[in-house]
Formats: sequence, structure tokens, C-alpha cells
Amino acid sequence: MAFVCYNFHSMDKRIELDKLHKKWKEECSCELKKTAIQAVPGDGNSQADIVFIGEAPGKSEDEQGRPFVGAAGKFLAEMLSLINLKREDIYITNIVKYRPPGNRDPLPDEKASCREWLLGEIKIIKPKLIVFLGRHAMNNFFPELKISSAHGKLLIKPFKGMATKYFFPLYHPAAALYDGSMRETLKDDFRKIPKVLMEIEKREKEAKS
Ligand code: URA
Repeated sequence: MAFVCYNFHSMDKRIELDKLHKKWKEECSCELKKTAIQAVPGDGNSQADIVFIGEAPGKSEDEQGRPFVGAAGKFLAEMLSLINLKREDIYITNIVKYRPPGNRDPLPDEKASCREWLLGEIKIIKPKLIVFLGRHAMNNFFPELKISSAHGKLLIKPFKGMATKYFFPLYHPAAALYDGSMRETLKDDFRKIPKVLMEIEKREKEAKS
């Protein structure tokens, strides 16, 4: 596979993201393309410090072509407000860009065919922190971890070709929506995000000095 060198010193990340989405909408070989209405690429602030990664689009997302616009998205917006953030402040995407029929879990092949698209988004934005929404997103990068023990903990791991090395797994908002205790855990974990960003800044400063 050809090595793609991304250099965005003066180029606008927004333009690069638009190019990336256009390319992958044409080239993505995901089987889900056959049943979905349309692709649901990532959306939001191209200069964001935080990229949120979910699982796959649901019915509303498939209809509107934007991630997290249904019930889970509404709940996510509520949680963002807990830490004084708005949707416009972050970038949000999914590991799989097409809706699986009946909202079933995405299959390994479907995740694999959308992986380069997701990595392209991360390489352009170069966020300080990646927040995983649920086990599917986390296991895409950390297959060995269980969400029940990893949620709310900062993970640090460099990946080849990726500037971002800080990750923060959370329960998926759709899973927490109808489970009172999971909902409270998710909110508690969310409230840790500002501290996590401070911790990252501290570590990066120390690494440079
Ligand atoms: N759940 C997800 O994981 N992604 C969406 O875009 C919507 C719901």
C-alpha cells in the first residue's frame, strides 16, 4: 500500500477533509454501501482538540448523512454541555461510515473496509485526544481491552503514522440512554475530560523540556 504523507502547515484542514470524504465515498468497498441510503462521514470542527469516534450510523444518521443526529446524538450534546462544549467545538465520526441493516453490530470486514477512511480523518485533524464512544470504537484500536474496565481511563499508545497517542474510552451514549447507572457513569467519565486534556498538556510539556 502506498504511504500517504499528510502535510497541512498551510493547507486548510477543512478542504482536506472534504477531499478525503469525496474520495472515500467513491472508493470505499464496504458491503454496507449496498443497503445504506448514503455515506455518513465525520462531521464537525476540523481544528478540534478532541475527536469522538462512535460505532456506525443509525436510521436518522443514514437519512440525514450526518453522524449522531438521532437520540444518541441528543444525549451526547447534553453531555458535551456538562463540560461547556458544543457539537461545533468537536469533530465526530464513526468507525463504519454506512448504516448496518437493522442497526446490527458492524462485521469485521465492514470495519476493515472503512478503516483507512477513519485513519485519514485522524491524520488530517491531529487531535490532542480521541474519545471512543463504546467498545466497538475502542476495540478498533485496542482489541484486547474490555470497556467495563477501560472506561474513564486515559490510554497512551503511539500508532504508526498517527500523531495522536492519547485515547479516552467511554460507554456508548445509546447503551447508557436507557440504563440509569451506566448513564451516571458516562456522565462522571465525561466530566473527567477537561482534566484529561490538562494531563495531556502537562505530559507534552514535560516531553519537550
Ligand atoms: N451511534 C453511533 O455510534 N453513531 C452514530 O452516528 C449514531 C449512533
